[in-house]
Amino acid sequence: LPTLGLWAIIGYLIGSVSAGLLMARIFGLGDLRQIGSGNIGATNVLRTGNKLAALLTLVLDAGKGAIAVLLARVFVAEDAVQLAGLAAFIGHCFPVWLGFRGGKGVATFLGTLLALAWPLGLAACATWLVTAALFRISSLSALVAAVLAPLWAQVLGLPGLTGLCLVLAVVILIRHADNIRRLLNGTEKRIGQKS
Ligand code: G3P
Repeated sequence: LPTLGLWAIIGYLIGSVSAGLLMARIFGLGDLRQIGSGNIGATNVLRTGNKLAALLTLVLDAGKGAIAVLLARVFVAEDAVQLAGLAAFIGHCFPVWLGFRGGKGVATFLGTLLALAWPLGLAACATWLVTAALFRISSLSALVAAVLAPLWAQVLGLPGLTGLCLVLAVVILIRHADNIRRLLNGTEKRIGQKS
C-alpha cells in the first residue's frame, strides 16, 4: 500500500472512534441517539447535563484530527498531513463501525485545522466562539466557522489549505442538513437547552 493510502486509512480509523459514544458509556449517559438531536457530538452530550463528559467529547474528538495530522507530520512528510486530517474528519462523520452514520465533524474540523496551521485553527475556533456568544446556537456557530474557514485560509496567507477547508465546509454543511432546516423554521435548540 502506498504510504499516503496507509495514512489515509490510519487517519480514518482514528477519526472513526466516537468520543461521544465512549463518554456516554463511561458516564452512563444513556443512548445519545435517543437524546436531543440524536447526534454523537459534544453539543448533544451537553444535553444530557453532563458538562465534563461534553468537554471531554469536544477535546477528544478535536484531538483525533490533531493526532492524525501530527502523526503524519512525524512519520511521513508534510504532504501527508492534509490527507490524514481529512481522513480523520471523514472517519468521524462516516465511521464504518456505526454503519457510516457518524457525527457532524465540527470538533474534528477544529482539531485538524489547529494541528495543520494553528493561526487558522484559532481563527476557526474564534469564529465559532463569537457566533456562539451572539446567538447561543452550536450548529449556527459551526456553520459560520466552516463557511468562513476557506476565507480565513486566504486572509492568513495559507492558500494551500483553502481547498481542504472548502471540502470540510461542504461536508459540514451536508451533515447539518437537519440543523439548517431547524434554523430556518426557528426550532433549533440553544446550547445546553434540552427540549
Ligand atoms: O457539532 C455539532 C453541532 O454543530 C450541532 O449539534 O446536536 O445540535 O445537532 P446538534
